[in-house]
Formats: sequence, C-alpha cells, structure tokens
Amino acid sequence: MKGRVAILGIFVADLAFEAPRLPMMGETLLGEGFRMGPGGKGSNQAVAAAKAGADVAFITRLGADAFGEIALATWSEAGVDTATVVRDTARPTGAAFIFVSTRDGNNAIIVNAGAAGAIGPADLDAARDAIEGARVFVTQLEQPIDAAARGLAIARAAGVTTILNPAPAADLSDEILALCDYVTPNESEAAALTGIAVDTVEDARAAADRLIARGVGRAVLTLGERGALYHDGRDAVLVPAFSAGPVRDTTGAGDAFNGGFATALAEGADPLAAVRFACATGSLSVTRPGAAAAMPTRAEIDALLQGAPAR
Ligand code: RIB
Repeated sequence: MKGRVAILGIFVADLAFEAPRLPMMGETLLGEGFRMGPGGKGSNQAVAAAKAGADVAFITRLGADAFGEIALATWSEAGVDTATVVRDTARPTGAAFIFVSTRDGNNAIIVNAGAAGAIGPADLDAARDAIEGARVFVTQLEQPIDAAARGLAIARAAGVTTILNPAPAADLSDEILALCDYVTPNESEAAALTGIAVDTVEDARAAADRLIARGVGRAVLTLGERGALYHDGRDAVLVPAFSAGPVRDTTGAGDAFNGGFATALAEGADPLAAVRFACATGSLSVTRPGAAAAMPTRAEIDALLQGAPAR
C-alpha cells in the first residue's frame, strides 16, 4: 500500500558543468559537458519518493518564470501533489551551479534558493493538513531553518514520523534536533553537527552517539560508497551500498536516499529495512547523470534489492 509523505524544501534549476577539475580564481576552463535539469534537495527527494511509490505532497515557493515551469512539469511527470506549492510573482525561481568531476562523478555545488528562500513558518501553517495527513514528514535546510522547525513541530504534534536531512550543514539547536525521529547527515554534515570528523565507520558511530545525546531519536549517517550507518540509540549497524553500475554523477544521491527512506517508512517498513531500501535507491541514482532526472523507479529498486537486474 502507498504511504503518504509530506516534504518541505526547494526547487532550483541545476546548471551542471562537467570538467576534470574546478577552475582556479581568475582561470577559464573548457568544460566537457553541460546539462540543465531539475534540482533542489527537497524537490529531488519528492521526485525520488514519488517514483519509489509514495503519495507525495511537496511544500515550497516557486517563481512565476521559466524555471518554475520546469518544476511543475517535473512534479507532474513524477506524480507529486502540488496543492501546497505557492507561486511567488515577486521573486525568481532559484538556480544551482554544479561542478561534476569527469574523474569520479563527485560534485561541488553553489545553490541560490530564489523564491523558496522566502518560505516561512506561515507557509507550514498553511500546509498543516498535508503534514498531518502524512505518515512521514521530511525537510532539509535549503529554505530558512524557522520554516523547517515549524514543519517538524506540526508533524511531531500530530504523531507523524519526522526526518531531518540537515543539508546544507547549519548550526542547529538541541530543541530542533529533539523534534527529529531521524536525522540523515552525510559525513561533512555530521561533522558540522557534532564536532567529530567523520572519516571512518568508527567516527560515524561516535558522531551518531553524539547526535542521539543531543536529542534525535535515531541517526542515519550516509557514507557514500560505504553505505549508511544506522544507530537506534543502542546498536549501530552499517548497511552497505549496492553495486548498481559505474558511478556517473553523485549529484542528488543523498536526496535519492532520503526519498527512498521516507517511502519505505511510510509503507510501514522497519527502520533497518528502510535504510536498505534507501541505499538501493541512492546506489541506482549515481549511475545516471542529473539529480531529479536520475531517480529510479520502484521496479528498479525492487529488482536491485532482490539481486536481479531491472528490465
Ligand atoms: O542534493 C543535490 C542538490 O543540491 C542539487 O540538485 C542542487 O540543486 C542542490 O540543491
């Protein structure tokens, strides 16, 4: 049965440049590829969840411009409910500069949230029905933190499972962390939240301990090609990444993970099974270029989990 997921976040147009390295200041570098496509962590997570099989309500603000039209077409194709999307005629839709390394598929990003940077607590109050009607609420930190905090508080009060993907890294109060059933940082975000450099799985365990001491329910640290460390406050388990093919572009891998994780939890999966589902979703996404465009279908995820190639 489909699970209902409400996601707060931003949409931006990703302008992705492929090159062997970043240019230095004052240098012009010839690129090896360019793509424009749908991005923004929240929107990527909404698309990932919808393609993985969830009923998704997306909460955001969008400019009334050409990039905004790309967003609407993306959500329509993926089946994301846009009843809680506000069109803003005063501000443009945002954009992201994305460097993708042709050496290893890794990326570096500058994002400007545009209209979504004006999302505030009142927008979450207006979306209360969508949040309270969901089984899982997800947010990241590309829109203002007070909006994320209001969404988490509404969800928590209604007994909706809360996931905070603390990306990009930010200073967060213990009060906000205490509203989170799950936090899902990558290595650098976990380091920023805990002060513990995360290089090894043991470091990840120590950072997860620290996050739980700060008030989160459970910590799920994404560790790139090593997979994810799940810590329920007592035991920590490393869930390995899947081998789904050569890595082409890691942009949006964390978003695929979070969208898949929310989908599985909303269907009633136990947390460890949900982390495994999330790892499969993320592992498939890095084999394709782009962010939202790289999100796998449910059939592909199920096939990878069952060890069979997707048809
Ligand atoms: O997580 C990847 C996303 O981060 C990109 O799509 C980019 O838009 C930035 O928001």
